[in-house]
Amino acid sequence: MNHNQLPSAPGPIGVFDSGYGGLTILSEIRRALPDYDYIYLGDNARAPYGSRSFDIVYRFTLEAVTELFRRGCHLVILACNTASAKALRSIQQLDLPILDPDRRVLGVIRPTVEAVGDITRNGHVGIFATPGTVASESYDIEIAKLYPDFKVTAQACPMWVPLVENREADRPGADYFVRQETDTLLSRDPLIDTVILGCTHYPLLYSKIREAMPDDITIVRQGDIVARSLEDYLSRHPEINARLTRGASTQYLTTENPEKFSALATLFLQHPVTATRITL
Ligand code: DGL
Repeated sequence: MNHNQLPSAPGPIGVFDSGYGGLTILSEIRRALPDYDYIYLGDNARAPYGSRSFDIVYRFTLEAVTELFRRGCHLVILACNTASAKALRSIQQLDLPILDPDRRVLGVIRPTVEAVGDITRNGHVGIFATPGTVASESYDIEIAKLYPDFKVTAQACPMWVPLVENREADRPGADYFVRQETDTLLSRDPLIDTVILGCTHYPLLYSKIREAMPDDITIVRQGDIVARSLEDYLSRHPEINARLTRGASTQYLTTENPEKFSALATLFLQHPVTATRITL
């Protein structure tokens, strides 16, 4: 596959996640940029990605990005921290030059890290993320580049995505698994004043996490940050902006059963959606 085989006409913005979590990003992006067209792709059949190895997440993410390019996207947002941590750099450096050097793939980690510098007061930052994101040390590395004096403590939360995907996020059983990670994080660095929800599923656990943490700790959700960063990116890159269509539509694609996708997507978006099944 190279750029001669990809559609050149302007197209929608692609938003990719392993499953449903990216919907929390999509809804904020759409709120900020309502006129554009979007294609959301959830690789639900192969989710979760959080405990998968580097090369598998890279391969799956590249397949998804290539599919979104084939469907006319010139810009794809990896609305998934695990994919941003494990695949973004390789796709940007190794694959885009071959697929099409004029298309763009952006992640969620860098904009989140940029924003956190204005939020923390003492530079003690905690991260909640999947085991894959934590093992990649992507947040530690990106924060060290911008703010070398910050102390970063990353806590892997292997049960949080399954809780959300199994509709347990609001139930009493979730409290145990939330407290397990919040207590451990704060025991590892009691000075933390800011915590990043470094997984796009975690906003659905926000009220439990808020309850489990002292009030003076700021909890950072990514949706709004990523949306503002994309708005800024498009204003700085008119050549990309010109390749995006504006019909205010959203198409939902899933690699799993579309009825199953629609049922859970409704929980994330608070409105019903119709999805189409594809294979990658
Ligand atoms: N939503 C993904 C993220 O932001 C994690 C879900 C998964 O483990 O697949 O990391």
